[in-house]
Amino acid sequence: MADTPPDPPQRPLPDGIVPADVVARTERRWLGVMVAMLVVMMAVIVLTGITHAISPPSNVETIDPTTLHLGGEFAESNLGTAQERDGSLTVRLIGGQYGFAPACTKVAVDTPVKFRLTSTDVIHGFLLPSTNVNTMVVPGFVAEVRTTFTRPGIYRMPCNEFCGAGHHGMWARVSVVPKDQFQSLAPTERSGCVQQ
Ligand code: CUA
Repeated sequence: MADTPPDPPQRPLPDGIVPADVVARTERRWLGVMVAMLVVMMAVIVLTGITHAISPPSNVETIDPTTLHLGGEFAESNLGTAQERDGSLTVRLIGGQYGFAPACTKVAVDTPVKFRLTSTDVIHGFLLPSTNVNTMVVPGFVAEVRTTFTRPGIYRMPCNEFCGAGHHGMWARVSVVPKDQFQSLAPTERSGCVQQ
């Protein structure tokens, strides 16, 4: 009784050629690895979203960008650093092609600082390197970021969202000074680096 010949007939493979069933097995394994990576990444996103309250760049507070200058929170006289009753600071800034107003703000070290920004025209970026501050500044919305500076110095604020031909020149700065060099502000007083 002759053996039934295998179908397709098995010929010895040339050197360096991997049999099809081995290739299929390897592909299935990599598919498994890929799916596992996706599951891990999704889990990280969901878990950090729940536990660290990660939210969109804007705190979804709306504002009319066409009337900023007419009054309200982002009127010119209200921009810059304000001091709250609890001693914390609130810095209000406006971004517009191609600059921030005011171009320099002063805050104290080791003090909670809340930045509130909005845009008059297009999307800008607000980034303070070596801090946790990094957000988009979207017209029609107020972006709010909180931080505490632990080291005094000048923090440069490059616009990190391409906003047009002058984007590369859109800079401002935050001057972080020791607590004894930061004068307390009256409730209606606003400070910047220009007035000092
Ligand atoms: Cu503003 Cu780039």
